[in-house]
Amino acid sequence: MSINLQWYPGHMTKARRAMEESLRLVDMIVEIRDARLPYSSANPDLAGMGQGKKRILILNKSDLADPEETEKWMAAFRQQDMIPLSMDARVRGDCTGILRLLNELAAEKKAKDLKRGIKNRPARLMVAGIPNVGKSTLINSLAGRASTKTGDKPGVTRGLQWIRLSASLELLDTPGILWPRFEEEAVGLKLALMGAIREEILPAEELALAGRKLLEERYPKALTERYGLSEDNSPAWLTELAQKQSLLQKGGEPDTARAAARFLDDLKKGKLGRITLESP
Ligand code: G4P
Repeated sequence: MSINLQWYPGHMTKARRAMEESLRLVDMIVEIRDARLPYSSANPDLAGMGQGKKRILILNKSDLADPEETEKWMAAFRQQDMIPLSMDARVRGDCTGILRLLNELAAEKKAKDLKRGIKNRPARLMVAGIPNVGKSTLINSLAGRASTKTGDKPGVTRGLQWIRLSASLELLDTPGILWPRFEEEAVGLKLALMGAIREEILPAEELALAGRKLLEERYPKALTERYGLSEDNSPAWLTELAQKQSLLQKGGEPDTARAAARFLDDLKKGKLGRITLESP
């Protein structure tokens, strides 16, 4: 199996530079990862960026992830001195927790600033992460509660918009986009399976096969429970799936290509259950 990962170093360098520029303006970084892939959806560069800033780590799409695994990951991150939260960024109510936390951190900063004689400077934060983890969704959910947008300010890079979340908190309205670790083949595979990268890294049937293998290792009952497939690991499983799902070609032959697409779609959308593809 050879995975074709098409990455664009030009975009990467540009995104990284933009990210570094924005980082200079903020006090806190909210990093978003996909709760189903807390390792693979990270950008390894981010750890080295923005030293000394507060870091909040969001395991987003937790509605699709295995809750037990999410707990394990949260515990592991806490031990690494990170502040983890799990959430579904589409749900406004889920944003209450993060807002409370951000306000607490902002209050701490304000107290520190006051000691140093600096007054009335709101804490600033930015949201960062690899594509498709829910950055825009979170920004929208947070901004939905905000009343004012603050415009450009002298000394701030032109074009940047800050959204006032509270008297002491401002959010950069553009997220920092980072690239995943693309040097590891397994990472690309998992990201494709969870829909985090749209590039077709493998033909659907091969991707389905690889996805099935991963699923079997961690959730051996999922396929039987969802589709009633036999548990014999038959290489003809896509044929069986096509038959069970009535995905037939014109002549009545099982359509394995559509079966693969169905499986991949169901996997991505959580129809095979709440799954997490890696453990701490
Ligand atoms: P990004 O800015 O990091 O690139 O991600 P964005 O907010 O655009 O979100 C990507 C997709 O993920 C969106 O679906 C969004 O609704 C969905 N999403 C965001 N947060 C959550 C979450 O906590 N749970 C679930 N289940 N979904 C979430 P979309 O527009 O329909 O795109 P797609 O699903 O077709 O990729």
